[in-house]
Amino acid sequence: MWKGTIRKILLSLSFLITVTTTTIQGQTAEKPIVLWHGMGDSCCNPESMGRLEDLIQQLLPGTFVHSVQIGKTVKEDHEAGFFGIVNNQIDFVCEQLSNIPELKDGFNAIGFSQGGLFLRGYVERCNQPSVHKLITFGSPHGGVTDIPNCMNPGDLTCRLMRSMVRYGAYSSYVQHRVIQAQYFKDPKNLQGYLDHNIFLPDLNNEFEGIKNKTYSDNLSSLDTFVMIRFADDSMVKPGETAWFWTYNDEHELVPLEHQSLYKEDWLGLRKLGGRLKFLVSPGQHMQITDDFFETQIVWPYLAAKDDKDSHHLNHNSGSSSISSSNGCSGGRNNNSDIISSNGNSISISGSDTGVATPRLVHQQP
Ligand SMILES: *[C@@H]1O[C@H](CO)[C@@H](O)[C@H](O)[C@H]1NC(C)=O
Ligand SMILES: *[C@@H]1O[C@H](CO)[C@@H](O)[C@H](O)[C@H]1NC(C)=O
Ligand SMILES: *[C@@H]1O[C@H](CO)[C@@H](O)[C@H](O)[C@H]1NC(C)=O
Repeated sequence: MWKGTIRKILLSLSFLITVTTTTIQGQTAEKPIVLWHGMGDSCCNPESMGRLEDLIQQLLPGTFVHSVQIGKTVKEDHEAGFFGIVNNQIDFVCEQLSNIPELKDGFNAIGFSQGGLFLRGYVERCNQPSVHKLITFGSPHGGVTDIPNCMNPGDLTCRLMRSMVRYGAYSSYVQHRVIQAQYFKDPKNLQGYLDHNIFLPDLNNEFEGIKNKTYSDNLSSLDTFVMIRFADDSMVKPGETAWFWTYNDEHELVPLEHQSLYKEDWLGLRKLGGRLKFLVSPGQHMQITDDFFETQIVWPYLAAKDDKDSHHLNHNSGSSSISSSNGCSGGRNNNSDIISSNGNSISISGSDTGVATPRLVHQQP
């Protein structure tokens, strides 16, 4: 019996050593990282942003990570995902980030669903400190044709939001209270959208003859802008909004490169050229696997450049130890999806689930 215990201890020691070795070889982040969560989620949900922070710490130890929080408490932050004025929230975040000393030399930003849209707002309108790389997952850059559903029927805040929208998404009352109405782009009423939506037409420089040059200057100043679309997204409509696709008044879905927004470069996207990346993540809205996040995002965009090649090697040799430290048996790739799309994941993760909530599920065997 004792022998067995000792063997186990030795085994864990050897895991520790592997982890330590990879750390020593230096996996460092290029910049500090700022996260902005999605609707129904909060800054500090241990199963979503918290779990993602953990993953970043495993891969890029010692990285400074800040998760955006609107309001004084986690509860207020959750509510702010449904109620408030996006323009004010972006100003608030501008102030919040400017007071964080670790960010003063710039940072890389990752936004989830609506959080990615709002981070783009931060870049266009504020950007002090400046964003180096902007990464958005399933963000409604081109607006949504429908107010998102509540994935968790128990989320009363979400239900209240949906019932308020019935008063008319473009009414001044709703526009000044409901976040989702502020990126609602009704393809049957594009004029109403331009006239009454208080956020998105301005952010996208859609007003005829009025283009804010700061927006395009600041967006095109990004080192890289990575837009990830989910292959089977049925939560934000259309899913291609994550790449800025939007409906015209003939009710046709128009790819970015065929839009005036791109051709006349209202936002500096065209100027970005090859620095604008279009990625597809398999699966449903916010279903991001550890593997995707690591191989498509962390190593290409978040890790310091010089270390990039050694990261791959380090990771491969160290991966089993990382999964062991998580309490997972077997390969980590399929055992610890950051975000899982299956029905279970939502109940596992508990309350506060909104449509845009990344579910960071640690699937125990
Ligand atoms: C353009 O945007 C900047 C940053 O938000 C703002 O300060 C400025 O007033 C805007 N300019 C116009 C003409 O709206
Ligand atoms: C645009 O971003 C730059 C940093 O990239 C910043 O210095 C500048 O002040 C920003 N513009 C506005 C109007 O904030
Ligand atoms: C994870 O699943 C995919 C298919 O979904 C498979 O191709 C891959 O080999 C699996 N990886 C591991 C480590 O089991």
